[in-house]
Amino acid sequence: MATITDILTQIVSKIFGDLGLPTDLGVVRVSDRPDLCQFQCNGAMAAAKTAKRNPRDIASDIKKALDQNDKFEKIEIAGPGFINIDLSFQAIADIIGSLAKDDRFGIASHGNDKTIILDYGGMNVAKAMHVGHLRSLAIGTCLKNIHRFMGYNALGDIHMGDWGLQMGQIISEFEQRNPDWSYFDENFEGPYPEDPPFSYDELEAIYPQASQACKHDPKRLEIAQKATADLQSGRAGYVALWQHFMTLSIEDIKKNIEPFGVCFDIWKGEASVNHLIPEITADLKAKKVIQQSDGAWIIPVAQDDDKQEIPPLIYLNSRGAQTYGTTDIGTIYDRIKQYPDIVGMIYETDQRQTLHFEQ
Ligand code: ARG
Repeated sequence: MATITDILTQIVSKIFGDLGLPTDLGVVRVSDRPDLCQFQCNGAMAAAKTAKRNPRDIASDIKKALDQNDKFEKIEIAGPGFINIDLSFQAIADIIGSLAKDDRFGIASHGNDKTIILDYGGMNVAKAMHVGHLRSLAIGTCLKNIHRFMGYNALGDIHMGDWGLQMGQIISEFEQRNPDWSYFDENFEGPYPEDPPFSYDELEAIYPQASQACKHDPKRLEIAQKATADLQSGRAGYVALWQHFMTLSIEDIKKNIEPFGVCFDIWKGEASVNHLIPEITADLKAKKVIQQSDGAWIIPVAQDDDKQEIPPLIYLNSRGAQTYGTTDIGTIYDRIKQYPDIVGMIYETDQRQTLHFEQ
């Protein structure tokens, strides 16, 4: 179905033709001065050159023809020969009436089934969901639906927060409280209990306590950092415990989002790209994207035209642990590999993460 500017372009191009001027100059677009008019055509200036005429004269001939058409409320010539166009209320009502009758409301399908990933929700494992997650769920779901309507293979990815320091904080908190659990015995050969020795409510309650403890005690923080690095390098008892966090949290997330009618096509998270990291790290080393600094691997991302100081992205910290940056880079690699036709990724997240995404 033709858009409003298509319809107007057709009318104005015909007039250009009738006046012996190139029809392709009759393009009408939405005005960039909405305070002056709704639509504009700037073709008279270009036509003046080839026709060797005054552009305002040409604009005035076009205005005369447009004035005959009752679709228009007001046609004005501005500056050197801009044609400012306002539609009549009746014409607008007619157009809206025909859009309303159209199955697709006049919207063209132009995604060609290409993949686009919407990264929204982003709830964190073992941590209560907050209003920011709700907002991201709502906006992300709308954007997914709009992209689907536009003809994209739009997929929603929850991208759970399941791999960072908060995991090490919780694991080490459990370890301090229950040192006798098999998960913490490095000589234990399994199998670990199938059912978690705690409920979701207990898990959720332990995170703020662990996080507070780390805030006030550098030694406690160091223990949590080590537990994070150990989990990421595959320490069996920690992985088994983490698996419990995942099972309980996913159950809780599903229960929370169901009433809102939102859903995900991809249930991945930060941890899901862990197995790709060695390969990606090798690639980034070979491409000289990452460099060593004080025992960490960093990506200097500052640019000359930055408006504020942009610190380097920490790719692997000095303990070799992955960061939020590592897993997001890993996820980009993963998505491109999984969906070779991907044309975009849209992240719907907390504004406080602006620096992270800029990096
Ligand atoms: N887990 C994050 C949070 O709670 C949001 C994740 C956003 N997505 C991403 N790919 N980083 O704020």
